[in-house]
Amino acid sequence: CLWIRNLALKKRLPGPFAWPLVGNAMQLGQMPHITFSRLAKKYGNVYQIRLGCNDIVVLNGYTAIRQALVQHSKEFAGRPNFISFQIISGGKSMTFSNYSEQWKAHRRVAQSTLRAFSSANSQTKKAFEQHIVAEAMDMVRSFLRLSADRCYFNPSHEFTVAAANVICALCFGKRYGHDDPEFRALLGRVDKFGETVGAGSLVDVMPWLQSFPNPVRSVYQNFKTINKEFFAYVKDKVVQHRDTYDPDVTRDMSDAIISVIEHGKNNMLTKDFVEGTVTDLIGAGQDTVSTVMQWMLLLLVKYPAMQTKLQEQIDKVVGRDRLPSMEDKVNLTYLDAFIYETMRYTSFVPVTIPHSTTTDVTIEGFHIPKDTVVFINQWSVNHDPQKWQDPQTFNPSRFLDENGALNKDLTSSVMIFSTGKRRCIGDQIAKTEIFLFLAILLHQCTFKSNPSQTLTMDCSYGLVLKPVKFTVTAKLRGRLLGLVS
Ligand code: HEM
Repeated sequence: CLWIRNLALKKRLPGPFAWPLVGNAMQLGQMPHITFSRLAKKYGNVYQIRLGCNDIVVLNGYTAIRQALVQHSKEFAGRPNFISFQIISGGKSMTFSNYSEQWKAHRRVAQSTLRAFSSANSQTKKAFEQHIVAEAMDMVRSFLRLSADRCYFNPSHEFTVAAANVICALCFGKRYGHDDPEFRALLGRVDKFGETVGAGSLVDVMPWLQSFPNPVRSVYQNFKTINKEFFAYVKDKVVQHRDTYDPDVTRDMSDAIISVIEHGKNNMLTKDFVEGTVTDLIGAGQDTVSTVMQWMLLLLVKYPAMQTKLQEQIDKVVGRDRLPSMEDKVNLTYLDAFIYETMRYTSFVPVTIPHSTTTDVTIEGFHIPKDTVVFINQWSVNHDPQKWQDPQTFNPSRFLDENGALNKDLTSSVMIFSTGKRRCIGDQIAKTEIFLFLAILLHQCTFKSNPSQTLTMDCSYGLVLKPVKFTVTAKLRGRLLGLVS
């Protein structure tokens, strides 16, 4: 009797009418996160859509998302069993596998290894920062070379190499030159990865699209090839590490992961999870960081007065005789504000990787059954007019008080790394990288847009939003500095 009463009290999920076979797939448009926010105005922050044969719950806004991912963290910690997810990292991905005891063990290994090599103590922290500084200076030299004779260049490749090098240095103890052909070819393909795993990608919800020629099928076939090649590349490096493994010397993160999984007490993860973990970390740590760097450069040339103000603050705090370091961060509040505002304004990871429910759960009075696919619309949190004044305006100063201090309450309201049990485990690494890259680029160079191009915020949709191609030129500010010891 109580059970029937409870059931009657639970509300049916609202949502738009779904067509047979395709559901609401044709209504998502080019920018599904904007469509999801528009639908939230009509149906509320928790509603249901149908894609192919899947009922999908879409969560919008700070309150509903926090209620789900923080208050009901375990219930929303799953991943759907999409066909594309099973192809990633040789089928041994942590990022794309469902919630289980094995997943928990896997996440712990990845998380503690990342920490051990980036922030565990002052020595590893310094070593990690020096890697980033070296990459940043390499990037400065490349940008100046590409700008010789007032040439305009597209910065995306340089950012991809720099971000990939930082994570490859951690994983393999090796970095690559900007022109290394093997590396260039590999990275050139990986940036298409997000097309298939972003929320609203169709092949997972309409698997029958694989059975006849169409654009979705060719994107998916390309996805399979990219993953195969990328995994083979990482596996080869891991095998070399395994063959030369010495328990007394940990050269890099690959050694550390081999040590825990193959030589530790953990018996939940078999040997092939090593390759899976390394592939996950390199994949996750590269496209995200290089994309936000592209957005920041675009905004710097779009708003030259902000660029000058940033440089003035850097010169005042750091001076012209040394490069910026992490110790300067507390005093470079406008730079920090610029980074947070770029994350908020662009919301370049607009929707997280799809989640799924691990048990039946009730949220805002709505009943959601176990194994329901859930989309988390981060963009809606960052553009919520109740939280942000003029959310469509790019204004870094919104994060600063009248004394120029950073408003920590407001910066923590920006949602780009998700929250709860699936929160990004690379957030600290990413923040260090982004801060040092940006501070050093601005300390060393001034960037200008190409007058023959109109700068827009147009982008392509996927797991990350990428700006359409744009070109800039870089000019050295004073003398080129060497590396700090
Ligand atoms: C997951 C954002 C950089 C490793 C995620 C998720 C987001 C995200 C939104 C999905 C969370 C969810 O599904 O709820 C970002 C952004 C980055 C960044 C915006 C850069 C600005 C990195 C880096 C690494 C990393 C540098 C590692 C070196 C991971 C991993 C996961 C993840 C392993 C999967 C977590 C899981 O499924 O349990 N990230 N990330 N990320 N990220 Fe990041």
